[in-house]
Amino acid sequence: MKAIRIHNYGGPEVLRYEYAPRPKPQAGEVLIRVHAAGVNPIDWKVREGEMKDFWPHKFPLILGWDLSGVVEELGKGVSRFKIGDEVYSVPDPTRDGAYADYIAVRESELALKPASLHHIRAAAVPLAAVTAWQALFDTAQLRPGQRVLIHAGSGGVGHFAVQLAKWKGAYVFATASTTNQDLLRELGVDKVIDYTQQRFEDVTRNVDVVLDTIGGETQERSWSVLKKGGNLVSLVQPPSEEKAKELGIRATMIGGHPSGEQLAEIARIIEAGKLAPVLDRIHPLSEVRRAHELSQTGHTHGKIVLRVSNGDGTLEGKQS
Ligand SMILES: NC(=O)c1ccc[n+]([C@@H]2O[C@H](COP(=O)([O-])OP(=O)(O)OC[C@H]3O[C@@H](n4cnc5c(N)ncnc54)[C@H](OP(=O)(O)O)[C@@H]3O)[C@@H](O)[C@H]2O)c1
Repeated sequence: MKAIRIHNYGGPEVLRYEYAPRPKPQAGEVLIRVHAAGVNPIDWKVREGEMKDFWPHKFPLILGWDLSGVVEELGKGVSRFKIGDEVYSVPDPTRDGAYADYIAVRESELALKPASLHHIRAAAVPLAAVTAWQALFDTAQLRPGQRVLIHAGSGGVGHFAVQLAKWKGAYVFATASTTNQDLLRELGVDKVIDYTQQRFEDVTRNVDVVLDTIGGETQERSWSVLKKGGNLVSLVQPPSEEKAKELGIRATMIGGHPSGEQLAEIARIIEAGKLAPVLDRIHPLSEVRRAHELSQTGHTHGKIVLRVSNGDGTLEGKQS
């Protein structure tokens, strides 16, 4: 099969479009023909070796932990899916990813994709939406009527977090630069904040939940907008335990985890018209280097997706 693999850590130049062995589904796994793969910052962080002390990756490694595709083959004991099902998934990020024609995924990491979305749009959803869900609902226990500040509301995670928070009935503050203010409004943000023009803490008060997707100074300045008893959830940097104690705030960094059940719930919300992915752009699999370079700017809006079926481009190496 065709795949994007890395044989060592490094810049975008280590991404190789080449032939790789097709995986075999083990017991409890499903082989999926990948139609599209979402790009997330974790892809280039892994490529650069940032996760090497946490995840036991082996080379050559296939990147990409976001996909939409069709079930091609079933491993022993699989009961919830059948051949031909259209599915989407966040596969286990410690194993080979989805920048490939095929991937073997555990049944528990899959759900039927939303029928109203074609594969390209469906592949934009899983990792970012599940992360937003786990941050806002599992961790912060966001409730209707509460106030939430979402940093980078125009980003991959942020644009789902804004919509999910609105779906829950929260009042939403969100930040982005000038170019993304209209997008924030279209997503339903109640109070849009242009972080290039104003300090978010000057216009945000008594917030129950902050979703920190930025870290550093943005996280540090976020303490002052939170109510006593509020929640600071970071995706990028562990908040200070001393500061949290001093202010009476629950503060934590989370690492998202695959969940087919949550993906099924998210599909229902999409089908109800309450949640939709925004795509910044679509590249063929062969243009993955460009996709990584764009993601690394930190200023794309919504998601970048790789089209895998008909991925075209020139392959390196020999077919195996
Ligand atoms: N812990 C986990 O499980 C987990 C899961 C998913 C993601 N993450 C991490 O969370 C972070 C965000 O992920 P993502 O996929 O949402 O990234 P992304 O899509 O690359 O985020 C890009 C967005 O960030 C906005 N932005 C950049 N600087 C900003 C600032 N100072 N204030 C407000 N907005 C700003 C940009 O808006 P402008 O262009 O308008 O500036 C852009 O729309 C990444 O570091 C990622 O690795 C962690």
